[in-house]
Amino acid sequence: MQVRQWWRARAVDDDTRLDAQELLLHCLDVRRSSFYMMQNQQLSCEQLNWLDNQWLERVKGRPLPYILGRAWFWGMSLRVSADVLIPRPDTEVLVRALLDLDLPSQAKVADLGTGSAAIALAAALERPQWCLIGVDQSELALQIARQNVHDLAPGRVHLVRGSWFGPLRPQSLDVVVSNPPYLAPDDPHLVDLGDEPRSALVAEDQGFADLFELIQTAPAYLRPRGWLLLEHGWQQGEAVNQAFRNAGWQCVRTLTDLAARDRVSLGQWHG
Ligand SMILES: C[S@@+](CC[C@H](N)C(=O)[O-])C[C@H]1O[C@@H](n2cnc3c(N)ncnc32)[C@H](O)[C@@H]1O
Repeated sequence: MQVRQWWRARAVDDDTRLDAQELLLHCLDVRRSSFYMMQNQQLSCEQLNWLDNQWLERVKGRPLPYILGRAWFWGMSLRVSADVLIPRPDTEVLVRALLDLDLPSQAKVADLGTGSAAIALAAALERPQWCLIGVDQSELALQIARQNVHDLAPGRVHLVRGSWFGPLRPQSLDVVVSNPPYLAPDDPHLVDLGDEPRSALVAEDQGFADLFELIQTAPAYLRPRGWLLLEHGWQQGEAVNQAFRNAGWQCVRTLTDLAARDRVSLGQWHG
């Protein structure tokens, strides 16, 4: 069977067209720009078997990044497994906000709940002088994070296991950045997110427990005029912004994603 025959048989809408293309690119080990030149290439039995098996997984609802073991974030190809959240384009709003801050040239930045280390690695590559720490409570997630750091920016992100600020020294950080779990335990979206680790997605108190804990505890770990940046659900912006203000944070603001939905809130601690 030719590449285009396999592809056309599966490409019934935009999603399937793209996903079938991704699988073919991976299988043929070629870049997207070469895809159309490969259309008449004959697929071997091994390649066909592999493609059909992976497609079956995809039809059953397994997310493509888990099938391929790779996800794109901030121009990086990251390793992922079912032990980490698949990094989302929304989280690039958090990275942009972090890079836009006016910080000391050798800023010390902690990424709490680092998962695949997506945020920490984006920051490490964009700001070579910064000192990056990634914290996660999941050892399995940290194994993936270690591989990503090794592949993309060796030695640039110090990874530690623990719960939120547990492994960190008080008053030692210029910035804390986090994309914590923020879905309520009964959030209907969880039905479609069944392949991803629940511990990366769900928080008590209608999804606010971890967001509020970080807002309360961060001041003790920040240097004077340090920042806290939090990703949250698009319907949580007002409540998170208010929680920052109630806790005494200054320069509080909420940023939106490309769809103009509240996505990130941040504040500065003046002490
Ligand atoms: C929404 S995921 C974010 C992953 C990654 N930062 C990203 O943006 O793709 C939340 C992460 O927080 C971690 N986590 C949950 N509770 C934690 C806790 N108490 N302390 C540290 N990490 C925690 C989970 O293991 C998961 O990796």
